[in-house]
Amino acid sequence: MQIKSSGQACGARVTGVDLSAPLSDDVIAEIRAAWLEHRVLAFADQAMDDDALERFTIAMGGFGEDPFFDPIEGRENIAAICREADEKSPLFAENWHSDWSFLAKPPAGTCLLSIDIPPHGGDTMFADQVVAFAALSKARKDELRGLTAVHSARLAYAPDGAYGDKDGEGDRSMAIRPDASANETYSHPLICTHPETGEEAIYSTMGYIIGIEGMAQDEAFAFLAELQAWQGRDEFTYRHKWEENMLILWDNRSVLHKATGGYEGHRRELHRTTIAAFEAA
Ligand code: SIN
Repeated sequence: MQIKSSGQACGARVTGVDLSAPLSDDVIAEIRAAWLEHRVLAFADQAMDDDALERFTIAMGGFGEDPFFDPIEGRENIAAICREADEKSPLFAENWHSDWSFLAKPPAGTCLLSIDIPPHGGDTMFADQVVAFAALSKARKDELRGLTAVHSARLAYAPDGAYGDKDGEGDRSMAIRPDASANETYSHPLICTHPETGEEAIYSTMGYIIGIEGMAQDEAFAFLAELQAWQGRDEFTYRHKWEENMLILWDNRSVLHKATGGYEGHRRELHRTTIAAFEAA
């Protein structure tokens, strides 16, 4: 297996491994180690189908919980991230986020498999939150370590959220299922220690973080907006360019991600699974 760093803040390209076949324990351990080091892995030239995607996800830690999406037909744990060539609805997942950070046990990672890749555009952006935290002053780090963030899916998936009832009046091709349960909240420390590497990272961002415990709402909003501008600075990012036959795997505990457009008039489809929260043995 060859692992080549992207040369950007995080991310590496992996070749010389066939993910369409079952993997040995040694290869799984090697992939896991590379995943923790580079945070985003892009496996090129993979002839994977949905069975192989499921097998790989199970090998990396099992399926995570996936609220607010219907899975693709015939599968319980695969969702389609898709956009038709003539679709007019706003782009899905265009803001920085860490997948499902509002859950009590958010997914450790996410896999995305290319199904239909446009000839240009549709890159996925990543922002390394270990590097973003490390670059702060000691005083700012200490300040952030003392804060607890209130997470919720309400701004996105509640009936009055961005993907709620109004969105359904458009032509969205994705099977998003808004629900009142999105109004629930769950708190996590703003700075989380990675359970496998021990590294500190800024966990999640404004959007899924809707407040800070003990802080007035307008103050919290201004604080989160300022922090988000820091979290997504260019020097912390990796721009992933898609290819046919490619699987990517990222670590939700150490990076944020977001979708980008630029492929108007072309279809884009990826199959997605999430990897369950890590439980120490
Ligand atoms: C996602 O946030 O899961 C989608 C990313 C993308 O479409 O590039």
